Amino acid sequence: MSNEIKITFAEPNVADSGTLVMFIAEGGVYGRELSALIGKKAENHLKRAAEAEHFTGKEKQVLVVPAPDGIAAGRAVLVGIGGSKQRNETNYVNLGGLIAGQLGKATQATVLMYGPEDWRVDAAAAAELALGMHLRVYDFDHYKTKKKDDEAKSTSVKVVIGLHDPAGAKKAYKYSEAVAGGVAIARNLVNEPPNVLTPTAFAKQAAELSKLGVNVDILDEKQLGKIGMRALLAVGQGSRQESRVVIMRWHGDKSSKGKKSKPLAFIGKGVVFDTGGISIKPAAGMEDMKGDMAGAACVVGLMHALAARKAKVDAIGVIGLVENMPDGNAQRPGDIVKSYDGQTIEIINTDAEGRLVLCDLLAYVRDHYKPAFMINLATLTGAILVALGQENAGLFSTDDGLSDRLTASGRATGETVWRMPLGPAYDKMIDSRFADMKNTGGRFAGSITAAQFLRRFVGDVPWAHLDIAGTGMASPNSDINRSWGSGWGVRLLDRLVHDYHE
Ligand code: BES
Ligand code: MN
Ligand code: ZN
Repeated sequence: MSNEIKITFAEPNVADSGTLVMFIAEGGVYGRELSALIGKKAENHLKRAAEAEHFTGKEKQVLVVPAPDGIAAGRAVLVGIGGSKQRNETNYVNLGGLIAGQLGKATQATVLMYGPEDWRVDAAAAAELALGMHLRVYDFDHYKTKKKDDEAKSTSVKVVIGLHDPAGAKKAYKYSEAVAGGVAIARNLVNEPPNVLTPTAFAKQAAELSKLGVNVDILDEKQLGKIGMRALLAVGQGSRQESRVVIMRWHGDKSSKGKKSKPLAFIGKGVVFDTGGISIKPAAGMEDMKGDMAGAACVVGLMHALAARKAKVDAIGVIGLVENMPDGNAQRPGDIVKSYDGQTIEIINTDAEGRLVLCDLLAYVRDHYKPAFMINLATLTGAILVALGQENAGLFSTDDGLSDRLTASGRATGETVWRMPLGPAYDKMIDSRFADMKNTGGRFAGSITAAQFLRRFVGDVPWAHLDIAGTGMASPNSDINRSWGSGWGVRLLDRLVHDYHE
């Protein structure tokens, strides 16, 4: 069981005897309304406690005061929101995460959304705060049958966010819930162990989206063979698990009566486990390769978010689900495979398998759906970790507009991307002596040659590739994420759709 949080919105009220969260500005300044709500006695007590603990209301500073005088609350949590400059740029999602991290064993909490007059406390801010709380309390612990003494068993907390426009917040919160749900789905998929989350099990999870009105088709190996996705099938041929491709279609743009609008296409690498194949990986850390399907997980999470919030857009999600294993039937270095669109690929290293999965999907989506754009996500190269660490995903694109919009959406959500180069000089590095191309380009510029490989399959469709090997798994802790699988990209792409395509 994971931690549960139930959030509602109401006119402000301090009668509850749970945890009372209050926002304090730099210099220990209480908003006028907050002062009026809690009364002089409580304010004086809290100010004395703040002084003793050197709490000044600096951004992200927190002070917990047990049993504050003058109010019924069992605990007061003072949260600093900084000076006017910081208050102008408050990230409410992160702030929500920070607060949720302070709830401890509380079963009931009230957040008083009041501050100085210049601080935005509207319905949208409250909904963002709520999103951050959901993201923070996410916990993947359902395989733990025993709890250490100091670990509270799964907690369930009721949170009331007090503000002047509860009805507006409730409406805005529907959006937050859809996105939080999508991120949780993506995180769950990435965290699940590879013996449980096989390609067929993954496909079954994706099929759940049909409950939200998403049209889901699952293609099995026989169908994939007929279509000609030979590169994708070659990756899975050394596994006892059958490969699958899942196509998810969301039709939310009802304005284009009859006429089909060009869908937005999202494509994900779903290698449920990557041993490297015959070019096998070293043992140390190989368990992390259960997360080599983070791109596909993001696509499923995104489709959930779009459908749950009834996005007014036509979107398709396509994921390639395979397991990369070494066995007597596995592909070999030296093999030449013919991709879906007829281009031939010489296999140099069976561990460069993600591009083999994606190239068939990209060419197929390009031909069959004539999309407005294609964005693919993949834990594609270790080299992107060397280049960018875990702070930015690598962005490769043939389209400056799409690239700029992704960059802006990244800034807005905190899921940031950094553009990397493409170009003919890199393209030469993957020319093959025997086939149209090789699946690796040597030691240098590994992330770029991988992207250059994908580019050969996108035709004229505006395209962006996000290399999320650094951001999708083994994520560092933040205010809004304590999970190994971060669910990275769901919020970024939801934002892109919302800001530019609805
Ligand atoms: N799934 C890996 C990339 C990866 C590495 C993801 C670390 C997450 C963390 C990918 O399939 C791979 O093995 N790439 C090789 C490519 C090489 C053989 C050209 C790599 O990065 O070493
Ligand atoms: Mn690999
Ligand atoms: Zn891989």
